[in-house]
Amino acid sequence: MDRELFEAAATVRRRAHAPYSGFPVGAALRTGAGAVHAGCNVENAAYPEGWCAETSAIAAMIGASLGGNDRVIAAICIVADRSNGNLTTPCGGCRQRIAEFAGPDTPVHVADPSGEVRIFRLGELLPAAFAQEPPA
Ligand code: THU
Repeated sequence: MDRELFEAAATVRRRAHAPYSGFPVGAALRTGAGAVHAGCNVENAAYPEGWCAETSAIAAMIGASLGGNDRVIAAICIVADRSNGNLTTPCGGCRQRIAEFAGPDTPVHVADPSGEVRIFRLGELLPAAFAQEPPA
């Protein structure tokens, strides 16, 4: 268990804006240079306009990197209650968003608030990922 990421994700989860689902989520990631960025889900009365915790954490990373190159996700941890009896894994869209800044071996820790955890590799969650080189 990555204690630092778990604590950061559990803390930001308590700030989630999730009045419609009642399902707060926190995510925290560590960059290649060792910076930690965290974010929570932010829902909206117009339901499709809400976004996920992973998306918030990625936005924090990009905003903090000031155009620099500390934009690699070395590890990410998601904290939420269980869903369907299982530890909550990132939704499909967030798997693709994580893949934009991570590789197939990047650890994805999924934990419940009590600290029960399972560690996946991103490649297990998003096999045969779509990727494209940005144009030169
Ligand atoms: N949610 C996340 O923030 N991350 C996940 O990995 C799963 C789902 C949010 C979206 C929505 O605000 C609430 O959880 C219920 O789906």
